[in-house]
Amino acid sequence: MTKNIDWSSLGFGYVQTDYRYVSNFKDGKWDDGTLTTDNTVTLHESAGVLQYAQTCFEGMKAYRTIDNKVVCFRPDMNAKRMADTARYLEMPAFPEDKFIEVVEKVIKANIDFVPPYGSGASLYLRPYMFGSNAVIGVKPATEFQFRIFATPVGPYFKGGVKPITLRVPDFDRAAPCGTGHIKAGLNYAMSLHAIVDAHNQGYNENMYLDSKTRTKVEETGGANIIFVTKDNEVITPKSSTILPSITRRSLMYVAEHYLGLKAEEREIYMSEVKDFKECALCGTAAVLSPVGKIVDHGEEINLPSGMNDMGEITKKLYDTLTGIQMGRIEAPEGWIKVINE
Ligand code: PLP
Ligand code: COI
Repeated sequence: MTKNIDWSSLGFGYVQTDYRYVSNFKDGKWDDGTLTTDNTVTLHESAGVLQYAQTCFEGMKAYRTIDNKVVCFRPDMNAKRMADTARYLEMPAFPEDKFIEVVEKVIKANIDFVPPYGSGASLYLRPYMFGSNAVIGVKPATEFQFRIFATPVGPYFKGGVKPITLRVPDFDRAAPCGTGHIKAGLNYAMSLHAIVDAHNQGYNENMYLDSKTRTKVEETGGANIIFVTKDNEVITPKSSTILPSITRRSLMYVAEHYLGLKAEEREIYMSEVKDFKECALCGTAAVLSPVGKIVDHGEEINLPSGMNDMGEITKKLYDTLTGIQMGRIEAPEGWIKVINE
């Protein structure tokens, strides 16, 4: 029986569910793993994650569809990205097939927490991995823990799909040691000061520029960015230093194959932004959140779509993507994994 939760008032916060999955890597291999009701983690004081932040995570969602199935959106993409991240951070990849299998297990074990169709909420899944044994020299751990918990969530930005305001910060969201080539293993702690500062100044998010030249748009603290040009072309920044968003890849496909629009990944200069028609943030948590205003050091860019509604193309992209996720629109082959008929 679906839990008695006020789904439509959920924000993007942690709500405890019944089961989480835990697997340990030791002596060169992952164990079988198990579901547990224990939502705590006990760690060695010198665990690799605590000393050198050797950790990574994924974010994905399960939805209840219009015909009351429970589905998960493109879990194979999260499995692959997490394996790539793990290898980049000198951690053992969690096997991709097993990842999809245990995602299914966690959703099934918490099926009563999957919000009803039409509630505006979904079940967010957080797979993550960390170095668990003691390290003291700067080197990778040799033992790791992989976990997945689930939590029902509502919109990432308060107000649901109301347009938000971004600012271009003075901060770079630098990769550790300024290597600039972290792929999916972004160090989110580096962005916490910038996000608190943005909120204190009344902005919803930071829009980072490339840290080398500070002329090109990268992404925000928790989502990628898309723009719509005056010619109704959907464009998104090409960069090796942003998270390769699964939502963004899906939206570019939707723009081209469902809406018949031109969709291009290319370098986007800050100086071009004033000429664009629409802007939106995209991600699992952000879905597609319209942007009404961008402030770059006192210079205001007011997107023509305004602060009240989603732009026309953004709305079409949003309706098509969420339609695919909720079973109202036929999905491309392999995008939807049915968990429960
Ligand atoms: N960029 C950042 C920094 C993120 O945290 C996220 C969220 O996962 C994204 C982009 C969007 O990625 P995805 O669409 O795969 O959720
Ligand atoms: C996601 O969209 O899944 C994210 O990871 C964004 C943020 C909550 C970190």
